[in-house]
Amino acid sequence: MVIEPIIKGVVARSAHPYGCQALVQQHIQFVKNAEQIKNGPKRVLILGASSGFGLAARIALAFGGSEADTIGVSFERGPSEKGVGTAGWYNNVFFKQEAEKEGRIAVNIIGDAFAQETRDQVIEAIETYFEGEVDLIIYSLATGIRPNPNTGENWVSSIKPIGNSVTGATVLLDNDLWVETTVEAATDDEIESTIKVMGGSDWESWVDTLINSESIAQGCQTIAFSYIGSEANYPIYRDGTLGWAKVDLHQASHSLNLKLANFNGSAYATVCKALVTKASVYIPAFTPYIIALYQAMKEEGNHEGCIEQMQRLFSSKFNQAQPPVDAERLIRMDEWELKPSVQERVYEIMQNMNQENFKQLGDYQGYKQAFMQLNGFDIEGVDYQQDIDFETLTSLKP
Ligand code: NAI
Repeated sequence: MVIEPIIKGVVARSAHPYGCQALVQQHIQFVKNAEQIKNGPKRVLILGASSGFGLAARIALAFGGSEADTIGVSFERGPSEKGVGTAGWYNNVFFKQEAEKEGRIAVNIIGDAFAQETRDQVIEAIETYFEGEVDLIIYSLATGIRPNPNTGENWVSSIKPIGNSVTGATVLLDNDLWVETTVEAATDDEIESTIKVMGGSDWESWVDTLINSESIAQGCQTIAFSYIGSEANYPIYRDGTLGWAKVDLHQASHSLNLKLANFNGSAYATVCKALVTKASVYIPAFTPYIIALYQAMKEEGNHEGCIEQMQRLFSSKFNQAQPPVDAERLIRMDEWELKPSVQERVYEIMQNMNQENFKQLGDYQGYKQAFMQLNGFDIEGVDYQQDIDFETLTSLKP
């Protein structure tokens, strides 16, 4: 069979296995040639390892100088009668293949990170492969739903503004249509649920679980990823439900920092740059900002993707006993995004951008290409006409 891209709105319904393989390999090559990570962690657990920042962190730490062994947790689907499977599934498969070629341990645990069963599997894997202890825990889950451990009912996140509604545009990736939307303000329940899903409490509960199972090494650190943004997107992000959830995450970093101090370790929230990922394309009314940002940063020559962000984080900031932090103890990887020259240009583009000209003024082409590449499409050197055997795909194990 020939695998074609299938996109519905902002969701990809197919993925190209060998495109995913090519992208993983390209990113490995990138980190090998980049500034190397010195004295990095050797035994790393990544929650949310199959795409976006989690996958990039895994590649950086395994191949960018630290030579880390990794256990990755993700929620992905393999090939079945329903389809070819998700990009993250193949990222897991091919990351593991490449890591094992270089003698590194790479364990993939596919399951719901909120389930006790998954936690038990992780503890067992740490026992089996990491001599019982982990040096770094990366929390990079992005999801819209989390079961309440006390009631079993689900908290469902709502990406909404708080107080006032916000009007903006979302560009649908299947037909390149710019759609004006008004996002109504969140209710108190929606705010609360979003904080439960995307805030710091699950991160904290993971670290508590690993403390209780005595899986924390001396000097163990943990990081989770955050976003703040600029005035151009405060109404939908920082001042909305997601922003409030991120404040909760920042607070969790302080309490985890105290807990890990007992192991001479530490915890940080790391604020990253806005990037196209499976998760971020869901944020309503966010596309104009991100395509203006890509345009502005590419013009300035300081655009980065997830892989560049993660290699720079671990080689130049997180490699110090005291990583540089801001007044709120946040590690800032968004410093180039927030440069006044970049933000002035973003503002200028956004002022003039509309449904007629967004492809000319903003970097919509780069945005769409990044989205296609996340799913294994539009990658140079991949033969998209090749006949792919379903049996071969089912034999690929993550
Ligand atoms: P992503 O969608 O690319 O990756 C999410 C990961 O979480 C995947 O590996 C997925 O399999 C896993 N996952 C989701 N639900 C799960 C579950 N129930 N059990 C196990 N695994 C599960 O997302 P992205 O964008 O890399 O987000 C990661 C973090 O980075 C989030 O906290 C996000 O807010 C943050 N961030 C993202 C930015 C962006 O622009 N994309 C910017 C700054 C921070």
